[in-house]
This record gives sequence, C-alpha cells and structure tokens, in this order.
Amino acid sequence: MYIEKVKKNMNLPETVRIFDTTLRDGEQTPGVAITVDEKIGIAKKLDQLGVDVIEVGFPAASEGEKEAAKAILDLGLNAKVCGLARVLKNDLDAVLDSDVDYIHTFIGTSPLHREYKLKMSQEQILDKAVEAVEYVKDHGVLVEFSAEDATRTEFPFLSEIYQSVEDAGADYINVPDTVGVMVPSAMHWLISKLNKDINIPISVHCHDDFGLAVANSLSSVEAGAQQVHATINGLGERAGNASLEEVVMALITRYDLPLDIRTSQLVNLSDFVSRITGVRMPPNKAIVGENAFAHEAGIHVHGVLEKAETYEPITPEMVGHTRRIVLGKHTGANALRSKLDEYGIEMSEKQFCTVYDQIKDLGDKGKKVTDADLKAIAVTVLGRA
Ligand code: KIV
Ligand code: ZN
Repeated sequence: MYIEKVKKNMNLPETVRIFDTTLRDGEQTPGVAITVDEKIGIAKKLDQLGVDVIEVGFPAASEGEKEAAKAILDLGLNAKVCGLARVLKNDLDAVLDSDVDYIHTFIGTSPLHREYKLKMSQEQILDKAVEAVEYVKDHGVLVEFSAEDATRTEFPFLSEIYQSVEDAGADYINVPDTVGVMVPSAMHWLISKLNKDINIPISVHCHDDFGLAVANSLSSVEAGAQQVHATINGLGERAGNASLEEVVMALITRYDLPLDIRTSQLVNLSDFVSRITGVRMPPNKAIVGENAFAHEAGIHVHGVLEKAETYEPITPEMVGHTRRIVLGKHTGANALRSKLDEYGIEMSEKQFCTVYDQIKDLGDKGKKVTDADLKAIAVTVLGRA
C-alpha cells in the first residue's frame, strides 16, 4: 500500500534476472560439500523453478567441479549455465573446457585486496580484468565481470574498471558486497551512480553479514539493477548470500515485477537443498521456515480463520507451504474448535472446556502441544464422559 507512494520515485527495471549461486557461493557455506549427482539434482530443480542463470561452481578448483559443470550443461536446461573463474588464463580455460555458456570472472579491487591479497596496483588489476574479458569474448562466450569487494573500493577506480570491461565486451557487470558492509541507502546510491556510467546491465551480489543482503539487493533493484545473485536458503560464505526465496517473493509481490519463477516450488526446493547440505532452516525463516504460515495466538487464529489476509501477507499456497494452527498457551477457543473439526472430534461444551483448560495448562508448563497431544487429551476426556 505505502510502497505505491514511493514507487514512482524508483528506477525499477522492467524485470529482474535471477542468477542463482547456490551451487557455487552456496557450496562455500562452511561445512557444506555437494557431490556431482547432488549438484545435478539441484540444478534440475532450479531450472524447473525458472531461474535465469545457474552458477554451477568453480571449475578450476577440482575435477569434480569440472565434471559437474559438464554434466549440468548436458542436461540441456533452459537456464544459462555459468562457471566462476578468477581473471587467470588457467581458471578461464577450465571453464571454457567445460563448454558452459557463461563465465563469471572476478578480481579484487578494494585497497585491502590490492595491498594484502593481490599485491597489485590499480593499473595492473584493470589490465588483468580487461584481458580476461577479451579472452572470454574471443571464445564467443557470455561474460559477467565482478569487482570483488566492490563496496569497499574507491568509486573512481570502481567505475573506471567497470567502464573498461564494458568497452572490452563484457555482457554484465556484477557489484559484490563481498563482506556485507552495505546498508540499503548506500547500495542505492552506489548503483544509481554506476548506472550513469555503465550501459550494460548491472547485477548485484549481496552477503548477509549484517542481515541486510535481501534489503540491499532490493534497494539495488530500486536504483535500476537488472539482475540479483541469490542462493536457496540464503546459503553462502559466512552469514550467507541474499536468500533467493525472499528476494523473489519481494520482487513479485511488493514491487509487482513480472518474474518468470514458479514460486509454488520454493518450499520443496528449500527442503531439498536443506536435506542435501545438512543446513536446517530456523523455524522463523521468512517464506520457507516451518512457522512462516503457523498461527498460535487466539486473536491471530480467529482472524486467519475468518480471512487469511488478516495475518498472512501472501497465501501459503503461493510458495508451496501449508497453513498450520498451533496449540499452546495462547490458543483461543476458535483455534481449538477448528482443530477438533479438522480431526472430526465432536464433544459437549463441558468436555470442550476441559480439553481447553488442559491445553492451556500444558502451555503454561512450557510444553509444546502437538496435534497428537490434542487427540490423546480429547480421547481421555471423551472416555471419561
Ligand atoms: O562475494 C563475492 O565477492 C564473490 C565473488 C566471487 C563475486 O562471491
Ligand atoms: Zn560471494
């Protein structure tokens, strides 16, 4: 509602491409390793979901990574299949050897990366970036260039390197907030300013070190970014990347952008990735968490049972979730009646009051009241009658 008041001041693109990096940055989640077969399984589901690009890994890192890239390419997916490479010939060749249609190449640009990691000057870094982009374009492959740690790089140099790779033939530039230091207003400023200097589509890659990856990605889109990097369940280095399910649902339902994503597959894909990676989602995770459409408080349950929108911003079906009414000390009579109806349990008003009191009592003792508990209580109370 209020978003309509500010939308006219935004520089929203007509649509946003979703660049999924679950199989690359997501696999960099500490403790996570995904086998070739598992990568194939996830890639198929990402393609069915409708993402535009799947970054399948870092082919120069291992034989397995190369094999995965080739195997995913052989699936003949609709999504573009992308491999990551540093701006080094060996890395670029490893990706080109896997025959993928898209290379994402990067080099650090911030003073920290220049001085401590690369020990290279601005000029040397710029030359390497341009050389890499030209090399990929000579092979007729799409190329996206990232200035790693872009958000801690001096603006004149950042703009210069992006303009130089554009002149060298890059198809996209990507702006990584590598250690998640941005806030939405700063991200908006940066993308708006780059947009004035750059003529190819701008992509963003936000990390979640301060829990701002999704907000920073959305603010970049408000400033004109045409592509967002994201991962299923927000997996990724350290605190992770922008969560794909959150970015996608916000773009579609808050900004009304026409993304070609089959959102009803989101919960299934989140569970699938969670099982493979062993990274479980907290129950209160937005969109896909177990509690995202669960209601306990009597007032809320009453509202939801009358009209779901009172306490749900979108329908659970839209993302493949299910609504749950949870019993506990906040349960109201309406919630309990609806649960008993759901299980076809009929009882007198007196029996109902006894069940109700027992549920509140359990809740007060700090116990979780499951549906199985409810059935057991109801059976006991009915048996006593
Ligand atoms: O976070 C980052 O900077 C990256 C680069 C490889 C783009 O993942
Ligand atoms: Zn990253």
